[in-house]
Amino acid sequence: MSSFIEIKDLHFSYVNELEEPPVKTEVLKGINLNIEKGEFVAVLGHNGSGKSTLAKCINAINLPESGAVYVNGMDTLDENNLLPIREKVGMVFQNPDNQIVATIVEEDVAFALENMGVEPNEIRRRVDEALKTVGMYEYRLHAPHKLSGGQKQRVAIAGIIAMKPDCILLDEPTA
Ligand SMILES: Nc1ncnc2c1ncn2[C@@H]1O[C@H](COP(=O)(O)OP(=O)(O)OP(=O)(O)O)[C@@H](O)[C@H]1O
Ligand SMILES: [Mg+2]
Repeated sequence: MSSFIEIKDLHFSYVNELEEPPVKTEVLKGINLNIEKGEFVAVLGHNGSGKSTLAKCINAINLPESGAVYVNGMDTLDENNLLPIREKVGMVFQNPDNQIVATIVEEDVAFALENMGVEPNEIRRRVDEALKTVGMYEYRLHAPHKLSGGQKQRVAIAGIIAMKPDCILLDEPTA
């Protein structure tokens, strides 16, 4: 049996095409990491060391320059795996503003579920439950952009919990 998350000799660089010639910043230089189902893993490193970059490689926002990342056996480089991977691995971003998509809290939490084709009654149930879990149920009809940073993070977490992923990636969980 392979690990739930398998990272093999992963290399990743950002390329700034606006510069002439394009400037390449090599961030991940040969990462190997296996994470099993049920494991709870923290990645520590100084600012700019590549923690967020690595997290984004796990849910296929960043694709390997070389090496490979597998989620439940699915290669992140295969485009057909994109949606199934994002349903398995939910990510709460470092900056919650990047995650807000709707103008009402409960619609924001429901957004991904609608895209996943979940039944409306089930969406209602999951959204209410997730908002109660993070203590934001009273804010369900508020505008997300008017919430505090911590409240936005709670709403972002609710959106991920509601999807019932197998794994949650929390970027800067202590925030
Ligand atoms: N979109 C981007 N384009 C170009 N370079 C980037 C981009 N995002 C990050 N970088 C660079 O990649 C490196 C790693 O950044 P990353 O955000 O992964 O670090 P981090 O460990 O999450 O840092 P922090 O602790 O500050 O959150 C940094 O040098 C950063 O400047
Ligand atoms: Mg970061």
